[in-house]
Amino acid sequence: MIIAVDGPSASGKGTLARAIARDMGFHYLDTGTLYRMVGYAMLQAKKSPDDAAAATDIAQKLQPELFEDQPLRGEIVAGMASKVAQFPAVRQALFDLQRNFAAQKPGAVLDGRDIGTVICPDADVKIFVTARPTLRAERRLKELLALGVSTDFATVLAEVTARDARDAARTLIAEDAIVVDSSDYSIAELRALVLDIIWQKAKSS
Ligand code: CDP
Repeated sequence: MIIAVDGPSASGKGTLARAIARDMGFHYLDTGTLYRMVGYAMLQAKKSPDDAAAATDIAQKLQPELFEDQPLRGEIVAGMASKVAQFPAVRQALFDLQRNFAAQKPGAVLDGRDIGTVICPDADVKIFVTARPTLRAERRLKELLALGVSTDFATVLAEVTARDARDAARTLIAEDAIVVDSSDYSIAELRALVLDIIWQKAKSS
């Protein structure tokens, strides 16, 4: 079984996807981390964000197991990730890795931007998680402060908004996706809702 969880930055998709994977005993992949790795490696190599060839080369040779998670979490890395993620060759280079991950038994949950539309259009369950931009900026601010990054609400809101604009073209809602707004629900409520959708699906197939 494949479960696709898409949505914009800090919408709560990662927390939800991780919880669902745990509940179901499925494999879990945060696909944004792959783009963050490419962005991080670009920054380390002092490459320009316009250098599609360098980004593609990095993506093609990517060895995810060589990266530590914490340095990937900041908004500078996220900004570079969303710039290099615009190059079709970078997306193509990360395609097989994501597809192969999704094919694992007994199932997999992948979260990202284009899982339900491009990576796994055949996913059994597709969820698109949204939330109000100001709430997403508040959540991201909390995460960043917890990581020890010194920033403020206005900066984070501007970063989230700029990234939304850049990501808009690939943050598409699949026709058969169920859209949930996490602004007004707790993670526990969303999780129960999505688990119910999964059980309905499992019963009918
Ligand atoms: O955690 P957050 O949602 O803010 O970001 P992320 O999921 O770690 O993704 C970082 C960046 O990678 C995004 O801003 C997108 O530009 C890009 N990305 C993408 O293009 N496709 C995906 N499936 C996942 C992320």
